[in-house]
Amino acid sequence: MNMQVSVHPATLEMRGISKQFPGVTALADVDFSVQSGEIHALIGQNGAGKSTLMKVLAGVYQPDGGEIRIDGQAVRFSQPRMALSSGIGVVYQDLSLVPKLTVANNIFLGREAGGSILVDQAAINREAMRILESLGVKGIDVQARTMDLPLAQQQLVEIAKVLSHQPRILVLDEPTAALAEEETALLMSILRGLRDRGIAIIYISHRFKEIIKLCDRATVLRNGQRVKTVEIIGTTEAELIELTIGEKVDTFFKHHDVRAATRTAALEVETLSIGRSVREVSFQLQAGEIVGVTGLLGAGQNELARALFGLTMETSGLFRRNGQVVRLRSPKEAIQHGIGLLTEQRKTEGLVMTLGVRPNITLPSLTAFRRRALFVDGRRENQRAADMAQRIRVKTASIESPVSTLSGGNQQKVILGKWLLRDLDILIFVSPTQGIDVGAKAEIYAQLTELAEAGKSIMVVSEDLIEILGISDRILVMFHGRLLQTLSRAEATEERLSAAIQGNPL
Ligand SMILES: Nc1ncnc2c1ncn2[C@@H]1O[C@H](COP(=O)(O)OP(=O)(O)OP(=O)(O)O)[C@@H](O)[C@H]1O
Ligand SMILES: [Mg+2]
Repeated sequence: MNMQVSVHPATLEMRGISKQFPGVTALADVDFSVQSGEIHALIGQNGAGKSTLMKVLAGVYQPDGGEIRIDGQAVRFSQPRMALSSGIGVVYQDLSLVPKLTVANNIFLGREAGGSILVDQAAINREAMRILESLGVKGIDVQARTMDLPLAQQQLVEIAKVLSHQPRILVLDEPTAALAEEETALLMSILRGLRDRGIAIIYISHRFKEIIKLCDRATVLRNGQRVKTVEIIGTTEAELIELTIGEKVDTFFKHHDVRAATRTAALEVETLSIGRSVREVSFQLQAGEIVGVTGLLGAGQNELARALFGLTMETSGLFRRNGQVVRLRSPKEAIQHGIGLLTEQRKTEGLVMTLGVRPNITLPSLTAFRRRALFVDGRRENQRAADMAQRIRVKTASIESPVSTLSGGNQQKVILGKWLLRDLDILIFVSPTQGIDVGAKAEIYAQLTELAEAGKSIMVVSEDLIEILGISDRILVMFHGRLLQTLSRAEATEERLSAAIQGNPL
């Protein structure tokens, strides 16, 4: 037997961790260890137990069984504060910033007082600026309220906040879900730097390409159990996907045939401009097609989507709905014209956390905007909600369980399910599969395709080129606020799209 002792002591060892919630075994006898100087991916489908395992580590949850050792010493954290002072820093899946506080005050939240130099605001601002700069993060005003920042910047602030505690063990729970390529690359270089300084990093993500690029090992959870720990070198993306979902997979994008375009313009957008972010953009959405809209972060695609839903005031240009000029000045007007939007800011999408999965999916369909039904057939609505929850694989103990008890990805599926069931003719989805596991993605794409086949117009805004290529009949590429190129499915390749989003169409 090889008795050689490893040079690097395991910085973190979790052994036999179990955690039960009412009706759910979130973790069953899970072993997990991470060494100093490695980036260790934690992967698994929505509801597999990833966040729960990290919350046990961080002292948010008490395990029902098992033990945690740091550098060989058994530890027990009855509160998050204790874990933090033992060097465990966690960037949670749900941002924990206080929206009304400034960036600087969020970074130093809870540390302003108490003998440190950080008692005056100017010092706090300077220090926050220094931290962001040291991370290579540019263009964030430390005196801005975090609620006024785009989601990607909020995520970077959150990461800066955790890093300012100088953790020895750093956990990032889906940190790139809201980030586009540029920020993701920045984050990766920050993490590599931290790894080289001996920090143990745990990285949760549903993006396998990212994991292969960044991580040293990966541990796969399925249904609360540890399936396997693998070295990333020598493991393919397909193998990781198979371990995650527990079955063989061929292709996730079953390229559907290009639908016979109906040539009926459901929505026409003419020379739409929004401040400096969108400039003179014109295009049509036809009934029965899926249009993908992509670009680098900030190229105007999000603002465009928001304008179609009446969320942007300072627009100029013209909208025609079924040939008639219409005003889209508020979400209410947009919905009256049959237009719906799922934004990237999922939190404001208004899940009622204390209510069950079923009412959350059906509620919006029962509102006054429902044009057809004079009375509501409750049983039918319930059945539709249950079917939808099942189809998009919402993992929950029961369809009546409060949404607050669902994992992050499963909460997103509920929001998605709610929009998929809304009887609107034009549905706009911004990053529809953000945070959604690889198994459920395929079903969501299938749902979008089905809606298009039923004659709806679907617009998918995403920075994920593979997603855009897989789902769209037509692709609009934005660059610096302008519509730079329109490609049909036949014309579009990953290479052409990459070139176009950089402003160099082939
Ligand atoms: N506070 C809670 N009360 C009840 N059940 C919970 C609670 N937190 C988590 N669960 C359940 O535990 C299981 C594991 O959830 P967890 O959040 O760890 O999943 P996850 O792997 O992080 O998934 P995702 O990729 O969607 O974030 C799920 O079935 C979830 O519904
Ligand atoms: Mg999670």
